[in-house]
Formats: sequence, structure tokens, C-alpha cells
Amino acid sequence: MFRPSLPLTLAALLVILPAVLSQPAPDDYNCYAEDEYPYLFFSSKTAYQYIYDKKPQVIPHCKPVQIWTVARHGTRYPSKKEIIRMKDLVNLQSEVMKNYERRDIERKLCEKDLTNLRKWVYNLTLDLDYQLAPQGHDDLFYLAKRMRTKFPILNDAAGFSPEQIQSHFLIRHTQTPRTKESAEAFVEGLFGGRASSIIPPGQDNEMLIKPYINCTPWEQAVDDEIHTREATLFEEGPLMKGLIASVSRRLGFTYNLTLGEIFTRSIFFEQTRTKLH
Ligand SMILES: *[C@@H]1O[C@H](CO)[C@@H](O)[C@H](O)[C@H]1NC(C)=O
Ligand SMILES: *[C@@H]1O[C@H](CO)[C@@H](O)[C@H](O)[C@H]1NC(C)=O
Repeated sequence: MFRPSLPLTLAALLVILPAVLSQPAPDDYNCYAEDEYPYLFFSSKTAYQYIYDKKPQVIPHCKPVQIWTVARHGTRYPSKKEIIRMKDLVNLQSEVMKNYERRDIERKLCEKDLTNLRKWVYNLTLDLDYQLAPQGHDDLFYLAKRMRTKFPILNDAAGFSPEQIQSHFLIRHTQTPRTKESAEAFVEGLFGGRASSIIPPGQDNEMLIKPYINCTPWEQAVDDEIHTREATLFEEGPLMKGLIASVSRRLGFTYNLTLGEIFTRSIFFEQTRTKLH
């Protein structure tokens, strides 16, 4: 279970893009803490459990005979580099608080959001880099549970003996702890607490789940200047400039932050907001 991670610039853009397009006009803002329907489509950063398709998938006159899935590992902690970078949020937090202590500032955040921002603590440690987060366990656990709902035939497996499970199911993951733990969470969702013994040790040269390791054209096509040019143009364009200005004002700054700062801050908001749910 693995999907190649995107180059940083692209990954950052994928997160920001939907947020920008859905960014309400500044006056639409009420209170993030009280937003019952927060915008959840953050590309590859979105937990499936909030956005999955709830419609039953019934195809008349057909029954499943074989089910394949290639899944990404669940939500993981950031890289060491990002964990260090995110520590800057502590400074940003105190800057925003200082901004809001000034009398002359136009107050553009509700009290609850301010309180949440004030209460936020940075608690990442370097050893967490790329490890599976608790949300990541749930991602795969509930993915398996939903598969059981969509394909009731899978429920038969609940009564299978370990030998039967072994002969009917094939589970593979790569060598990293996060993919192993994801596979275990998936199996847990599929069969209950047992049967993680059916998962063989991870292999790193898995051509089936890492086909790109043998695909030079793919590697060359993803990260070159031609393919990131549009992203750069977008980042420098009027929509993004407007967003930067509006976010900067809301946080009480009299100058425009940089896109990098906004990106880190949007994680900040997401973290302080989701703590309530
Ligand atoms: C950090 O704090 C948050 C909020 O209290 C908590 O949910 C999370 O588990 C903590 N993370 C770590 C790695 O301790
Ligand atoms: C911030 O950016 C906006 C949009 O580009 C611009 O209109 C405004 O003058 C900038 N503000 C400052 C203080 O530079």
C-alpha cells in the first residue's frame, strides 16, 4: 500500500488550490469553530471517512467474484523537514495574538477562533516523521469496513478460519512501517482483530504496488519545469494575491504574508479547528 509522494511544490499546491477556489469573500466569514459544514476537499490530504460516496453501488445482474484494491497508506505525520518548519507556527501564533491585542486593529476573527488559536500547542517530535498517525489507522480500518458494506459477500469472511482467509485473500505492502500498519488496520477492519498473520513481510521492490520505480518516463515527466509552470503562474496570479491579502488582514497583519507562510498557517487553522470535532 503505497503511492508515490508528490514533489513538495505540487503537493502544496494541491492542498491550497481547493481552499482558494472555495475561499469565501472576506465578509462571508463567521467563525471557523462554529462552521458545521467546513470545506473538506483538500485533495490527497482529505480523510476518506469525511467524503466517501455514500450511494450503494449495485450493478444489476452482476455479483463480484474478485475484488482488487490498491490503497495509499493512511494519513501520516510530515517529514522531518516539515516538522521543523512547522515549529515556526509557534512564532506565528504569538504574532497573531499580539496583533489582536492592539486596539486599532479591525477584528476579523471571532472569539472562539482566537481562543482556539491561543490554546494550540506544538507537540510534534522528530521521531514521528512519516509515521502513521492515529487518523491513518482509522483511514484504512474504515475503508475496509465500508468495503464490507458495499460488497456484503466480504462479510462471509467473518466466519472464515485463518486457513480459509489465507487461501482467499492476498494482502501486500511495502517495507515502511506506515504501509505495514496501514495493511494491519485494513485487515482489522475486514476481519475484526484477528488475521494480521496473513500479511507477509513488506518488500521494497514491489512492482505491483510501486510500478513507478521502474518507469523512468514517469519520473522525468512529473517534476520538470514544464509541468510545474502552470502551478507557478497560478501562485503568482491575481486570485492567489487576493487570497494572501485577505488572510493576512484576517490574522491582523498590516503587511502581506508570503504564500509559504499562508500555507503553513492554513495547516495551523485546520489543526486548531479539528481539535474541536
Ligand atoms: C498533540 O496534541 C493533540 C491535541 O491535544 C493531540 O490530539 C495529539 O494526539 C497530540 N499529538 C502527539 C503526537 O502527541
Ligand atoms: C497586499 O496585496 C494586495 C493584493 O495584491 C495589494 O492590493 C495590497 O496593496 C498589498 N498590501 C500591502 C500592505 O502591501
